[in-house]
Amino acid sequence: MNVSQLARSIPESPTLKLTEEARLLKEKGEAVIHLGAGEPKNKAPINAILSSAAKLNTGDVKYTPADGTPSLKKAIIRYTEENYNKMVAPENIIVSAGAKQAVYNLLFTLLNPQEEVIILAPYWVSYPEMVRMCYGVPVIVTPEDGSFHPRMQDIEQKVSSYTKAIIINSPNNPSGIMYSEQFIAEIIDFCERKGIYCIMDDIYHKLIFDGRKPISAYKHTKKDLENSKLIIVNGISKLYGMTGFRIGWTVAPKALTGILTNVQGQITTTTSVILQAAAEGALTGIQSIVEGLRLMIENNRNVMMQELQSFNGVKITKPDGTFYCLPDFSAYNKNSLELSQLLLKKALVVTVPGKEFGMEGHLRLSYCGTIKEIKQGIERIKWALDPNSPNEIFIGERKLVRDWL
Ligand SMILES: Cc1ncc(COP(=O)(O)O)c(C=O)c1O
Repeated sequence: MNVSQLARSIPESPTLKLTEEARLLKEKGEAVIHLGAGEPKNKAPINAILSSAAKLNTGDVKYTPADGTPSLKKAIIRYTEENYNKMVAPENIIVSAGAKQAVYNLLFTLLNPQEEVIILAPYWVSYPEMVRMCYGVPVIVTPEDGSFHPRMQDIEQKVSSYTKAIIINSPNNPSGIMYSEQFIAEIIDFCERKGIYCIMDDIYHKLIFDGRKPISAYKHTKKDLENSKLIIVNGISKLYGMTGFRIGWTVAPKALTGILTNVQGQITTTTSVILQAAAEGALTGIQSIVEGLRLMIENNRNVMMQELQSFNGVKITKPDGTFYCLPDFSAYNKNSLELSQLLLKKALVVTVPGKEFGMEGHLRLSYCGTIKEIKQGIERIKWALDPNSPNEIFIGERKLVRDWL
């Protein structure tokens, strides 16, 4: 097939691939447990449904301004004021088809060929590929101390005259850890001194546990917004469990937002007016749903930790937020792809190999499903890997005997 070398080099998203594999197995009636997913099973908030249904019922479903409807932008301004303690103008905001498109548009807009973007391992799978898709170079920084928390000295060593941006995702997919406020302050100061764009992917910023409070990056910038290199990306996918609505946004200096709007206008024109209405409904509606979802996920996190602790040989770092944890399974197999494939084949449990996130030997496990799924999923993983666990298990209707350890 005669397609571009660049397009050919872009791999399929591993998480989407695994979700599809799990769906096909489920369709065949297999008792699959999905510990790979990044979306809770809640229903969309009623205010989101009513707001989008009302828009649909008018039959007036047309293009909107490329940067989003004025009323959704107003809701985002209010969200930014309430959650970041920052007043921004409509010209600072652009609405996109998910935080994913927001990040991609930013990279497309910021990068010249061969310019570098610092990405902190463990990282969200899409960052390096998106940088490559914009002809940039992803520069991965892995904490030298073996933890999941980045260190300034490791970052400083990787910064060069080609460094254009750094992406910060805290709380972090896949590790679940939240970076310290001191680190956030230091990295913003560093970026401002060096003239490097600091992209904060805040998609999980309110999904945090143990009484933690979201960190507003604006608190740590010394510059006013128009002269700042600080860019915030956020969205409704994780906040309200509205992944399928595909609405995210960027808050950036006006000049940059204008260019982002030109870029988006040439690609997608705008996002759907129905979905923008849904996002507006969620943002302006009853907010107790966010706390309800957060509490449910925190409880799930606790169950996941409890189950994993009884598993000899697995090293765990307790997540501070998100839906994910990234335990170290290298005592069982250093090759996370092999491990993940074995677990799917033998135990019908979907996990995501740590290699995809720059952390070989680890598996990303999601705890946004049900408690039953978490407990049964870990029991099956134990059965498949741990010779000290009982060698018989029921999976669905079938009794299976382990004969490979
Ligand atoms: C770190 C991170 N950023 C962005 C996204 C994408 O969010 P959205 O659904 O708004 O595109 C995800 C989704 O998993 C994510 O984990």
